[in-house]
Amino acid sequence: MISLTRRSLLASASAALVIPALPRVARAATMPVLFAGPATAQIAPDGNDLTDVWAYGSESSAGTIPGPEIRVRAGERVQRRLSNGLPQPTAVHWHGIRIDNAMDGAAGLTQDPVQPGDTFDYDFIAPDPGTYWYHSHDRSWEQVARGLAGPLIVEEAEPWTGQEGAATREMTVMLTDWRLEASGAIEEASFGDIRDWAHGGRLGNVVTVNGRSDAELEVNAGERLRLRLINAATARIMPLRIEGHDATLIALDGHPVAPRATEQIVLAPAQRADIVIDCTGKPGSTAALMVDAGRNQWVQVAALAYSDTAPVPAIEGPVRPLPMTMDHALDLKNAQREEIVMEGGAMGSMRGARLNGVESDFRQLVAAKRAWAFNGIAGDMENPAFRAPRGRTVHVTLRNDTSWPHGIHLHGHHFEILTRNGQPDAYRDRRDTVFVAPEEVVEIAFNADNPGKWLLHCHMLGHQVAGMRTWFEVG
Ligand code: C2O
Ligand code: CU
Repeated sequence: MISLTRRSLLASASAALVIPALPRVARAATMPVLFAGPATAQIAPDGNDLTDVWAYGSESSAGTIPGPEIRVRAGERVQRRLSNGLPQPTAVHWHGIRIDNAMDGAAGLTQDPVQPGDTFDYDFIAPDPGTYWYHSHDRSWEQVARGLAGPLIVEEAEPWTGQEGAATREMTVMLTDWRLEASGAIEEASFGDIRDWAHGGRLGNVVTVNGRSDAELEVNAGERLRLRLINAATARIMPLRIEGHDATLIALDGHPVAPRATEQIVLAPAQRADIVIDCTGKPGSTAALMVDAGRNQWVQVAALAYSDTAPVPAIEGPVRPLPMTMDHALDLKNAQREEIVMEGGAMGSMRGARLNGVESDFRQLVAAKRAWAFNGIAGDMENPAFRAPRGRTVHVTLRNDTSWPHGIHLHGHHFEILTRNGQPDAYRDRRDTVFVAPEEVVEIAFNADNPGKWLLHCHMLGHQVAGMRTWFEVG
């Protein structure tokens, strides 16, 4: 079930046409390298030891946490030669981008995993403006937890920042968590632990913002700031708020929304939100960026640190909406209806599921490190959950028959949230990852306009590997 890689396609095409190697060499010289390899980072607060991580860097600089921010304008091309310096195979997924299927980075479905020492050329157009990210998509439950993730920012074709009512400046805020030992080293014994996977996933004990557990985000009094919030954690759901500041939500998973005031933002793993805040604090003051660590225990994970410079004149009036760019053209009346039923996990009622084509009981599943199923199948990838002709509207009912929340992600497409528990969704937000609460039923719809094989999985990465994954084919 492994399709041809872009590289082998190119190789066979040029062999057939006997094209001299020059174009490939020219390309090789210009494509920037994204190096994945071991690195160290100051994850625990200053004064503690450095942590050995796996990180993205460039050819000439060591990997950083998070990986280097990739920034293009909408419609521009992203080119990166992944160079694998890890002790295991890897691949890069460009999360949320409506991408050419061959570039999607879903190891085992859209490309072969990239072996240690090998490279793979990613080359694609980023069509839609918004806040995205990139991360490992092979053994992601381990590789992302070790640090392999970075921001991918697609700017509006016409700059929004600086326009009337818009932000005056923007900042990327990538959040994640780490499970560290007292020494500051990554706790490795729990990698692959089915108990974590059958519960809420492998949660960390340290939250970092832009790679620091004591991050200070410098702001200036009077600014109107756009914060691009990204939850890169493998399992942690992050409710967020900023002490003393009202936030206006302007985008979710890259999609503009009509600006709306919001007290707190809840980000499931992989979700993004763009918010605007007016920096009403005094020069020299600080305000806490807080995460609910569970059961309404809010902890500071970073500080907005006001500079001492004199305030700039405040921006008055409502926040300018982002330009609406994508037309979804959903045809709900003639939609193809599909259903994904989530089952399993601790405290669930799943008795068994199909594993490698065989009905297996829960004990057999656990022995094979599976604890979850979609439509009665515990993560087998032989057959797609469904196929849709190109251009068809697909209406998917996501039914969570488990005691746990899940963040369900569709590759290659964006969808609209139609209903929750049968009630029309107030906002009909468009997203690429949707939070589904325990026992909740969420209906979504999307235009299947991107041909290829696309994953559909829980973005709690331990759930994904333990059975919450399938795929669909368009075209
Ligand atoms: Cu963000 Cu299948 O991934
Ligand atoms: Cu899940």
